[in-house]
Amino acid sequence: MIHLALQEKLQQAVLALLPDTDVSTVLVRPCPEPKFGDYQTNALIGLAKRNQLNPREFAAQVVEQLDVDDCCEPVTIAGPGFLNFRLKIEALSDSLVGAAKGEHLFYRTAAEPRTVVIDYSSPNVAKPMHVGHIRSTILGYALAKVFRLLGHKVVTDNHIGDWGTQFGKLLVGWKEHLDKEALGRDALAEMERLYKLVNTACDEDETVLARAREELVKLQDGDAENLTIWREMIDLSRHQFDEIYGRLGVKFDETLGESFYNDRLKGVVDELIDQGIAEESEGAQVVFFNDHKALKKHPAIVQKSDGAANYTTTDLATLEHRQNSWQPSEVIYVTDGRQQLHFQQLFALYDRWKPGHGMKLNHVWFGAILGEDGRPFKTRSGEIIRLSGLLDEAEQRALDAVSKKNPDLPEEERHDIARVVGLGAIKYADLSGNRQSDYVFNWDTMLALVGNTAPYLLYAFTRIRSIFRKLGAESLNRPESFALGQAEEQVLAKHLLRFGHVLELVIEESRPNYLCNYLYELAGHFGSFYESCPVLQAEGDTRAQRLALCNLTGQVLQTGLETLGLETTDRM
Ligand code: ARG
Repeated sequence: MIHLALQEKLQQAVLALLPDTDVSTVLVRPCPEPKFGDYQTNALIGLAKRNQLNPREFAAQVVEQLDVDDCCEPVTIAGPGFLNFRLKIEALSDSLVGAAKGEHLFYRTAAEPRTVVIDYSSPNVAKPMHVGHIRSTILGYALAKVFRLLGHKVVTDNHIGDWGTQFGKLLVGWKEHLDKEALGRDALAEMERLYKLVNTACDEDETVLARAREELVKLQDGDAENLTIWREMIDLSRHQFDEIYGRLGVKFDETLGESFYNDRLKGVVDELIDQGIAEESEGAQVVFFNDHKALKKHPAIVQKSDGAANYTTTDLATLEHRQNSWQPSEVIYVTDGRQQLHFQQLFALYDRWKPGHGMKLNHVWFGAILGEDGRPFKTRSGEIIRLSGLLDEAEQRALDAVSKKNPDLPEEERHDIARVVGLGAIKYADLSGNRQSDYVFNWDTMLALVGNTAPYLLYAFTRIRSIFRKLGAESLNRPESFALGQAEEQVLAKHLLRFGHVLELVIEESRPNYLCNYLYELAGHFGSFYESCPVLQAEGDTRAQRLALCNLTGQVLQTGLETLGLETTDRM
């Protein structure tokens, strides 16, 4: 890919002048201002300063060393020492010819694939999944797909919350108040009802609380009846989670719940004590981070005063298991921003427990989903919004829109389209914003046919498909070269060439919204191209080249949307 080829040549030129330099930070990026060039690097400025050189002079020396005549116009030096690159039309054309032949789609798979573990979704047993879990599911799945597209090995792991003190209350509820019929109708709703019922009773009546503790201890000690009920609660919950994953088209390689690590927890705490990392404080085992600026005031408990391990202990055992099983170079956790402190503690603790472990530990957190009123997204009566109902409503709204626009399409096809558009709209709304900002859930915005939305991009894709339907049996000629005589053709071609770069940025910063923005711009550039450059009315080479541009745009759009976890449709 051109930016990588440029980058490699640039790094070689730097090395020729400054041997032994770490050139991994000498990067080539798309130029923010097209009038200066197509690609740019600002890395030479810092490098020169670190080596006590004059940045502009250093830049000039690098340019002298640099042989990029095959793909670029003469390189220009700007400002304090930027280099600007402008691609030659022949280079653009070569890349397009290769892509049209199916040799590549403007990205390159990693020369040295990495192993990455991604922990996402991770809902809790006996509680319905809510809109926060969908954001983790959608973001995590999209990241996994981008890593895989670029050739990395990914292990996805759903860290289900299937252990903890809540099971004491749930067991009391199950034994004393279970409504079997309600359980058959909606197991998670019934378990949630039981939990709330007993939870309130515990506040009012100490003897209920004592019973809940007793049931919990029995469960922890392996009581057969309690274990059976607990397993049933897990099975019922997982069944309902799987229904949602099925609808969203989301998969996991592993679903190792918290309980998978129970046998290891005591060993973890013992090791932390032996290594002098944890110490006793008021009966609990606690880790203090005295030399850690951000965590100084936030010690982590790894064993409560009643002897029980907790979320942190489980996560330590989990991370150890991941390291031993898969030797990943990176572990990514996708949860909402409220868990930042937990992960800071976990990562700092793991560094002390296993110094030199060599893994990049990455908490990919996201903001809240808000209602129109700017408050956390809830139903009118203040209940948490259920995921399944939300997905139903998305499909229904999309169906209404499709039926209005295309009443003549057969019913089955309208339903298919509505599913793709409705679910796509929800997914895209979760993906397209800066993940760390809160976002306001709004049906009209996410289902709009204009703007950076799923319906807009899906529609752009159907327009390209319809061009090829009109062609009928005419076969697509593979151009030997692309003239790109019109400005709009060049802009579109250059944007296509940037696909690989944006994919790399997505995994570098764990931000799928970069890919959303890229696709949105691609659809825009395609629109301008299609408006000003006749395709079906053109003839000969021009026709073949423009058709190929349409086809490549369609392929990038489709690959991009599918990599984000969306389905596409040929008609809308
Ligand atoms: N079950 C947790 C929750 O719903 C999320 C777990 C995230 N993953 C982890 N390894 N801690 O909040």
